[in-house]
Amino acid sequence: MKFFIDTADVDAIRELHDLGMVDGVTTNPSLILKSGRNILEVTKEICSFVQGPVSAEVVALKADDMIAEGRKLAEIAPNIAVKVPLTWDGLKTCKVLSGEGFMVNVTLCFSANQALIAAKAGATFISPFIGRLDDINLDGLDLIGDIRTIYDNYGFETQILAASIRNANHVKDCALIGADVVTAPPAVIKALASHVLTDKGLEQFTADWAKTGQKIL
Ligand code: G3P
Repeated sequence: MKFFIDTADVDAIRELHDLGMVDGVTTNPSLILKSGRNILEVTKEICSFVQGPVSAEVVALKADDMIAEGRKLAEIAPNIAVKVPLTWDGLKTCKVLSGEGFMVNVTLCFSANQALIAAKAGATFISPFIGRLDDINLDGLDLIGDIRTIYDNYGFETQILAASIRNANHVKDCALIGADVVTAPPAVIKALASHVLTDKGLEQFTADWAKTGQKIL
């Protein structure tokens, strides 16, 4: 499973990139706001060291304007995936830009039918938002499973990019279901390495080692 990092925080991406854990990056207007950076500048900086797909989101609402914005974002680097919302205009944009050879990430997906129609429009990635479904007492992981089944039934090549990941269990469950990619905030990626019994065991080993009076170096 590929790991994308869901942030526009360049330092956080670099830290994980140095560990070989960054297969791509996703951003959105809220993450650009949080970064305090200009979208073109920060996206260019991310693309200077991330080789995999870097999603940059259009903000226009009409297809013609979205297409123009998408082409401009795609000029930043060859590994840009243009991110468009799952609206009718977003699907038109997806069809045009994917036809021009650009990667397109269709975002704000909350139903299996939306994922089906995005695949028909030629999406490279579909981004179902798990956490936001869980927030309203629906089951985000059920959606990932339904999309996996539908895409496999018909051989769609659109990759399932599980988004709105809030915790380490979401990552594990997406891996079990067979999502192609998870995009998660840096803190969630780091949390994958944590276990209370690891901490407890290490504490015991450290204490016992001190009692031996030995040194390795
Ligand atoms: O990239 C979009 C998505 O991951 C948003 O997550 O936590 O704002 O629902 P969240």
